[in-house]
Amino acid sequence: MVLISQIIIGIFISQNILNTYIQEKRQEILTKSNILSNRIKFYLTNNEILVLDSLLKTLVENYSKEIKARIIIVDKNNIVKSDSNNEFEGSKLYHLEIQKALAGISNSNVYNFKEYGHVMYVAVPIILDDEVVGATFTSVSLNDIYNVVDRINNKIRLISLVSTVLIALMSFIFADFITKPISEMTKAITKMAQGNLGLKVEIKTNDEFKQLANAFNVMSTKLSQVDKQRKDFVANVSHELRTPLSSIKLLSESLLHQEKVDALVYKEFLQDIDSEIDRLNNIIDDLLILVDLDKEKLTLDFKTTYINFLLEKIIARLKPLAENKKISLDYIEREKIQIKVDANKIQQAVINIIHNAIKYTPEGGRVEVKLYTERDYVVIRVKDNGIGIPKESLPQIFDRFYRVDKARSRSTGGTGLGLSIAYQIVSLHQGTIDVESELGKGSTFYIKIPIDLNLA
Ligand SMILES: Nc1ncnc2c1ncn2[C@@H]1O[C@H](COP(=O)(O)OP(=O)(O)OP(=O)(O)O)[C@@H](O)[C@H]1O
Ligand SMILES: [Mg+2]
Repeated sequence: MVLISQIIIGIFISQNILNTYIQEKRQEILTKSNILSNRIKFYLTNNEILVLDSLLKTLVENYSKEIKARIIIVDKNNIVKSDSNNEFEGSKLYHLEIQKALAGISNSNVYNFKEYGHVMYVAVPIILDDEVVGATFTSVSLNDIYNVVDRINNKIRLISLVSTVLIALMSFIFADFITKPISEMTKAITKMAQGNLGLKVEIKTNDEFKQLANAFNVMSTKLSQVDKQRKDFVANVSHELRTPLSSIKLLSESLLHQEKVDALVYKEFLQDIDSEIDRLNNIIDDLLILVDLDKEKLTLDFKTTYINFLLEKIIARLKPLAENKKISLDYIEREKIQIKVDANKIQQAVINIIHNAIKYTPEGGRVEVKLYTERDYVVIRVKDNGIGIPKESLPQIFDRFYRVDKARSRSTGGTGLGLSIAYQIVSLHQGTIDVESELGKGSTFYIKIPIDLNLA
């Protein structure tokens, strides 16, 4: 492309230079010829006088030297009166240009002869008293001009060639510069497709590629996190399911291998098996709820509900559990509050949190549930004076399967899904759950749900 445009430009420039030179030359010769014609117009009519003849000759020769051209003067009968080359005097000379000049028109043409090269013929009429008395015919070689233009052409060609090579070189370097980040990114994507998640690309430029690389790195990190979560989840689920299953297996095997087992022992073992099955069921129920909440287009059944009645119902349901542990479960409300919620889901979330408060509070403790509004939110505060949560565990308690004390939870039968379910449900209501806790003193959970839920 560059070469083609250079060639076109080159041709255009040299053609222009040539035309300008020729035009200038033509103008110069025409002017000189006119001056000469004017000076010699009297000599042509008085040609008998010899002095005039020689004067004419000197004039013509001088002019010829000055403009480096051959000058021939003819009279109106085409007879050559003077020739700067002293060749045609006396003979008749017919040329297209002379004929035109004798007809009164100054004119010129350029020819390219094999032997002489480029030549310009210029002829102007010699006019005396409004009458054409002869013509001045000039022939000048244009070879100098053509040589100059040729030299210019050569220079242009050289410049074109050098600049084309330079541009080609530069575009190679530049193309490499541009494609390098792309190929780097392609490499990273290919590796990622082979399962190498979390890969990072490093791009040193400071442009859109850098932005692309940053976006890629964010995506890559996210993907590896999601992948890790998935793996952990599967591992956790298998582990949680295996524990009750192995208990069941152990219990049933010991029954099978013993002979003459007492009916009471049978019953006891079967009760254990039964409670393990309950535990399995609970885990699976919780998992199903989570899977359900994970669905992208989960449609919540929003209905205007008195939160007070909902809480009273929950308290009534959990009262026996608290009484079992001699824990006082109190409910305080400041006002009657009606908001739009999915009552079943919110009930599940609140139960999970109050259940925890009872579970993680020693016998004789106290759990208090309080309902109030704070700015645009309904707040359900669940406060206990139980074992509390260590500071470093607070950010993780809403994670799936996370338990602070794994050994203790085993005996209390938790799986670590309750809070993550509660969190998901409240999030779906555009609410939040905040925790304050001090180890050994107790914990307070704040469930906040917006009063004017934006359901759009
Ligand atoms: N009120 C509380 N006091 C002290 N620790 C708590 C309290 N609530 C939650 N925790 C801690 O947070 C962890 C996660 O709670 P979460 O409800 O998710 O699981 P879980 O109660 O162990 O099991 P489950 O799935 O049966 O609810 C608990 O294991 C416990 O260590
Ligand atoms: Mg729980």
